[in-house]
Amino acid sequence: MSNATQIAYLLTSISFVLGVMRLRSPATARSGNMLAGIGMAIALITVIVDYHNFSMLSVGLAVVLGAVVGTVSARRVRMTAMPQMVALFNGMGGGAAALVSIGEWVRAGSTSTAMPVTGGLAALFTILIGSISFTGSILAFLKLQEWITGRPVTYAGQKILNGLLLVVAVVLAIFMIASGSANAGAVFLLFVILALVLGLLVTLPIGGADMPVVISLLNAFTGLAAAATGFLLASNVLIIAGALVGASGTILTLQMSRAMNRPISNIFFGAFGKAAAGGAVAGSDGVVQPTTVEDVATLLAYSRRVVIVPGYGLAVARAQQEVRQLADKLGPRGVDVLYGIHPVAGRMPGHMNVLLAEANVPYDKLYEMDAINPLFPETDVVLVIGANDVTNPAARNEPSSPLYGMPVLDVDKAGRVIVLKRSMSPGFAGIDNPLYTNPKTNMLFGDAKDSVSQLLRAVDEV
Ligand code: TAP
Repeated sequence: MSNATQIAYLLTSISFVLGVMRLRSPATARSGNMLAGIGMAIALITVIVDYHNFSMLSVGLAVVLGAVVGTVSARRVRMTAMPQMVALFNGMGGGAAALVSIGEWVRAGSTSTAMPVTGGLAALFTILIGSISFTGSILAFLKLQEWITGRPVTYAGQKILNGLLLVVAVVLAIFMIASGSANAGAVFLLFVILALVLGLLVTLPIGGADMPVVISLLNAFTGLAAAATGFLLASNVLIIAGALVGASGTILTLQMSRAMNRPISNIFFGAFGKAAAGGAVAGSDGVVQPTTVEDVATLLAYSRRVVIVPGYGLAVARAQQEVRQLADKLGPRGVDVLYGIHPVAGRMPGHMNVLLAEANVPYDKLYEMDAINPLFPETDVVLVIGANDVTNPAARNEPSSPLYGMPVLDVDKAGRVIVLKRSMSPGFAGIDNPLYTNPKTNMLFGDAKDSVSQLLRAVDEV
């Protein structure tokens, strides 16, 4: 490898690391994304310049095709459909890593070149993990896109079957390594098929609120697969990029499961949606009290502190601009308007932060769950806009609830709670919310954007 190539890869690695670091805050995320993109472009150009045995036509076609599909889908995707888009892109990454290793294995087999044991191990590991990530992510995409049922699909002996198949795959891998040279025969084919089927089978019993966590875990798998491919190809930049994806995917998975109070083992074997479907919650047969825009406007205008709790419905309604305008109207009236952000509000990490940043809500008004919870008892009104599960008090005090133990925003501790949603439909977890029948709560039914727009006008008339 020439010095110029090494320097280019070093630059790529540095921009990936700095890019990921900048993604930690909404204020720097955009430049971080740009920096990582520049790093990727440097890597791509270096590979093309460095390897002269490519057909430039096929490389050019692949680059143009990838760029067009990537740009169009990234521009057109709705924020709320981001998890399935991430699943799809992630699956492609896992599939690509597996294909590279399949190619290397088949090449070694066809030239009867004995693969070194470490190379063989890296290739088979990548094929196993990359294939699981590929088919698992495709299934996750189909579930989230609602092209197939999003509920967990379970059957008797499922865990035993999955465990057995994994053991068989590992035994086949050991057999292939022990037999000395890379052999692309029937055993190898069986191994690849098993890995692909395993991805489907392990994702099948997962559903409901656990899906984004699984996507993040599969993302970590793709990172591992890419890093292992880096070992196979002796490519430092691939090892670094893969390790970054693997580590950040793992951290994200752990953070999400902690925020939902769901151990990873429960996510894989707990079949959340199944439990949730049967989960009746105490208090769900109480009285619901609807309210009007005029009453809410008066309440808000005469409050000292209002906390806005955004959720998935705010993203669906795209009401973030109107919400900021409402806060702008209340501020000059002496109302202290804050935002309470739950770590898993919406459908992806940081979902609400991104939405509110889009509407230029000042960051210092955004309070994380642990910071806002102690403030609720001193809050006059909480405006829950399209949030449901993350405000469910059953998570705190109803041991039979599937959400029990998940840390939630204690909105019911405020003086009054106004919930903006369209109907009494449940949230993502599919369970009732006793907050709606709390005597302190009033429901303002309607699309969040319409309701907040009406509130904007009504506040002017108070
Ligand atoms: P949800 O519990 O999903 O509730 C969203 C609510 O928004 C629904 O009750 C819905 O009621 C309402 N809604 C939908 N469209 C609306 C519109 N146009 N106008 C007004 N309201 C609308 O949302 P949440 O409280 O944000 O909770 C997030 C859920 O996702 C949790 O269960 C969480 O565990 C799960 N999850 C999130 C993540 C991440 S990282 N964010 C990861 C894994 C799981 P109507 O249909 O009646 O309007």
